[in-house]
Amino acid sequence: AILAPSGRPLEGLTAIVTSGPTHEPIDPVRYIANRSSGRQGHAIAAALAEAGALVTLVSGPVSLPDPKGVLVVHVETAADMLAAVEAALPADIAVFVAAVADWRVAAESDRKIKKTGDGPPPLALAENPDILATIGHHDQRPGLVVGFAAETDDLLANARKKLANKGADAILANDVSPSGGVMGGAENTIRLVTADGVEDWPKLAKEAAAKRLTAWIAAKLAGRAGT
Ligand code: CTP
Ligand code: CA
Repeated sequence: AILAPSGRPLEGLTAIVTSGPTHEPIDPVRYIANRSSGRQGHAIAAALAEAGALVTLVSGPVSLPDPKGVLVVHVETAADMLAAVEAALPADIAVFVAAVADWRVAAESDRKIKKTGDGPPPLALAENPDILATIGHHDQRPGLVVGFAAETDDLLANARKKLANKGADAILANDVSPSGGVMGGAENTIRLVTADGVEDWPKLAKEAAAKRLTAWIAAKLAGRAGT
């Protein structure tokens, strides 16, 4: 198996990567967010750039430095992330790694909500746009669209559903049970789910997983060019 790309197989290609969480404001001092360090997404952006791609990384709030050789667009909310991704189209490759908040607060308060002594405020939520599904069905859909599936239960069944529903070419399925240490950790155990089946990767450092995904992308695009 090819484990790392050699040379710059993605020279001349453009890529979009999302990474990190999104923050959905409740009021000026509070927000709803997902757990995400951005380590896996940032490593993928860096690996694609190292392989020669021109990479736009759309990142939610993280405490990581911007990867070298990558154009980074910093956003806060899912809506802003979608807008930044659409602004970066067209692209040859898109990899959606961000842990996007599925819901935002329906009516953000521009004043700080005060504790009143009458109990917590009711927080009505609205569903955020699905960025991967939007781009997977876009009229400017990139030639190769890859997403993740973060699951605690029924990993493969859920990953296959996401593959089909979101218009992706591959889903990297991730067990995010708290005992696994994936969220915020340095390593990742990935099952690559495509229409052809499932490829089990060993537990890898997130940088190594990024290189392996980059090699898979390069091989996939080379295979298409040759047919
Ligand atoms: N994703 C996205 N926009 C969203 C939600 C998810 O782009 N609003 C992307 C993620 O970046 C990931 C994939 O979709 O690549 C799957 O995310 P996940 O949270 O596992 O799945 P959801 O479709 O949000 O479903 P659920 O959280 O209910 O499992
Ligand atoms: Ca989700």
